[in-house]
Amino acid sequence: MALDYLDFTGDCVVVTGGSSGIGKSCAMALAGRGLAVAITHFHDPDEADEVIGRIHANGGRAIACDADVGDEDDVEALFAAAESAFGPVRLLVNSAGRNMSGTAVQDMSLDHFDRVMRADLYGPFLTCRRFVRGLEGKDNPGGGGRIVNVSSIHEAAPRAGAVDYDSAKGGLAQLTATLALELAPRGIAVNGVAPGMILTPMNQSALDDPKERARRARAIPWGRAGRPEEVAELVGYLLSDRADYITGTTVKIDGALSLKVAQDA
Ligand SMILES: NC(=O)c1ccc[n+]([C@@H]2O[C@H](COP(=O)([O-])OP(=O)(O)OC[C@H]3O[C@@H](n4cnc5c(N)ncnc54)[C@H](O)[C@@H]3O)[C@@H](O)[C@H]2O)c1
Repeated sequence: MALDYLDFTGDCVVVTGGSSGIGKSCAMALAGRGLAVAITHFHDPDEADEVIGRIHANGGRAIACDADVGDEDDVEALFAAAESAFGPVRLLVNSAGRNMSGTAVQDMSLDHFDRVMRADLYGPFLTCRRFVRGLEGKDNPGGGGRIVNVSSIHEAAPRAGAVDYDSAKGGLAQLTATLALELAPRGIAVNGVAPGMILTPMNQSALDDPKERARRARAIPWGRAGRPEEVAELVGYLLSDRADYITGTTVKIDGALSLKVAQDA
């Protein structure tokens, strides 16, 4: 079973973007280890119902909230719902996010840039802030808590046409590192995972078209794209006590794709 070697100290985890892709795999795996899970969906209740239904069918505990992670009120409502249903939230996974647009900078509206920033950078800021506020004082007497931010190898490997996404993920790397430093005295660990190409709806065309999938896999040294369940394994480890001494780092999970930067000149 996924993550079956792990123990968890927290009993409630918030997983943003938990209705789809990597977040969904995290939610399913963590619920399978006995954690109560609060997921977000983005105006897609059917997608969330499917995940919640599967968790409940397996005997797990889960709720879903419609939340824009870039909206302060939505983030407050998400955490209030999780705390009311399951008690203090001591684990957080930030997986919600928007992909790059492929738009050149001269053609990119501020509105568009802002939408990606709000999902991919402001969102983790708001959820991390609310997570930390929720663990102040009496609700966290022994200290502790763990956050995993789902970044991307493109936090450090830029692409033309991705000034929106790559800027947001670059900022997320610094958010992760800075919060790790700030929160270490409180025993709250903050780490990131940086996936390469993972087969989720964010890569829908590769899911749909085996030829495209094979073509893109040839660019990956490991010879294939990753699966969301593999990212969930890593996230689960980083959330667990086994990773106690790991904080302030981002772990790549990319089949060595990011190492191809600056080759073949
Ligand atoms: N799939 C990949 O190849 C890949 C690679 C690197 C990084 N990532 C990162 O992994 C994370 C998860 O992506 P995924 O592959 O599971 O894609 P996905 O599209 O399946 O999941 C992302 C989810 O985030 C939601 N979302 C978008 N904007 C939101 C907002 N403002 N508020 C709340 N939810 C919002 C989407 O509706 C979707 O449900 C993202 O942060 C993405 O950048 C993915």
